[in-house]
Amino acid sequence: MRTATAPLAMATASADLFSQAQHLGLEELHLFFDPRTRTRAVIAIHSTRLGPALGGCRFLPYPSTDAAVTDAMRLARAMSYKAAVARLNHGGGKAVLLRPERLTHRRVHIEAFASFVQRLGGRYITAEDSGTDVFDMDTIARYIPYVVGTSKAGGDPAPHTAFGVCKGIQAAVKFWLGRDDLEGVRVAIQGAGNVGYKLARELAELGAILIVADTNGAAAERVAHAFGGRIVAPDLIWEVPCDVFAPCALGGVLDSQTARRIKARIIAGAANNQLRDPGVSELLQEREILYAPDFVINAGGLIHLALRDENERHDKLLGIYDTLMAIFRRARRTGQTPVRIAERMAEAVVYGPRRSVRKRPPIAV
Ligand code: NAI
Repeated sequence: MRTATAPLAMATASADLFSQAQHLGLEELHLFFDPRTRTRAVIAIHSTRLGPALGGCRFLPYPSTDAAVTDAMRLARAMSYKAAVARLNHGGGKAVLLRPERLTHRRVHIEAFASFVQRLGGRYITAEDSGTDVFDMDTIARYIPYVVGTSKAGGDPAPHTAFGVCKGIQAAVKFWLGRDDLEGVRVAIQGAGNVGYKLARELAELGAILIVADTNGAAAERVAHAFGGRIVAPDLIWEVPCDVFAPCALGGVLDSQTARRIKARIIAGAANNQLRDPGVSELLQEREILYAPDFVINAGGLIHLALRDENERHDKLLGIYDTLMAIFRRARRTGQTPVRIAERMAEAVVYGPRRSVRKRPPIAV
């Protein structure tokens, strides 16, 4: 396969993207193009200082290449912070495979993507993300070792993400509402997809009352049917009176307008990069809404994929509760937002003195 790989400098990317890469502290940024299959991909590596960069591959349509590059870069940094707070021996990376308007040969794009990842020699390890699945990871594993979340190694991370988010919601409810249980606690779930559905199941088992919205009506109905939730229209979910708002759909959903509409006392959900800009966390603080930083609460899937030992995985998943509690307490003590506290925790690990880590074999490679 003839594959052209171009550093960003040679691509048609705007200077703005370079500033973003610099601002985000990226180590590497790659644009790949395979002329035979017309596969186009971006791979952003934020950090390899603590270990290979690990993060999923999105396979979605984007309005422009710039939008795809920006998404990959921001998500790569979020993955570094996620791994750092969870104390995993990994840095963060992310891939975006640009989905063509008409997708006819899915497998050839996945195979071309495998060859791109191979070229990075293990500095980036891929996994499932929006638009890819375990079968895609199995395809990639036929060619290269730099993949996790295959049917033989890890599988679908979503149940573990949902479990961690549920622990995070319990921590937030304890801290902010003084409640030890979720019996009767009203949770509005935005996005009833892979994680949203499983989160709904966890919450329903603990007695929470569910309100759910999804742009795909069938997905919302599936949750309501299985767990007795009430369905609301996607544009009304913000204003639903509830205790917890759980964003489990897209990134960037919290901006100065939506943050003002939210009636919930807590925001705690799975979506990556929920805040459109850092100022939103200050606004939430002013409105006395407790915000659980996304890269802390949604680390369950990454923890599951990054570790092999079942006990270690379980302990770290449960640890999401304690980590969030510590963040909330420090935020209260210092007057800073939980996001700022969590970022400082992550930055101390990513950029601080090297940890003496227990040597364990890198995953799956
Ligand atoms: P998914 O694609 O299975 O589900 C997303 C759902 O949101 C879909 O049902 C979609 O119809 C719905 N949706 C899209 N726009 C919406 C809107 N405006 N309002 C309401 N619903 C809308 O994705 P998945 O795997 O459940 O992930 C959800 C979020 O969690 C994503 O942001 C993902 O990046 C993040 N995440 C997922 C992890 C995982 O293990 N799958 C791990 C960490 C983060």
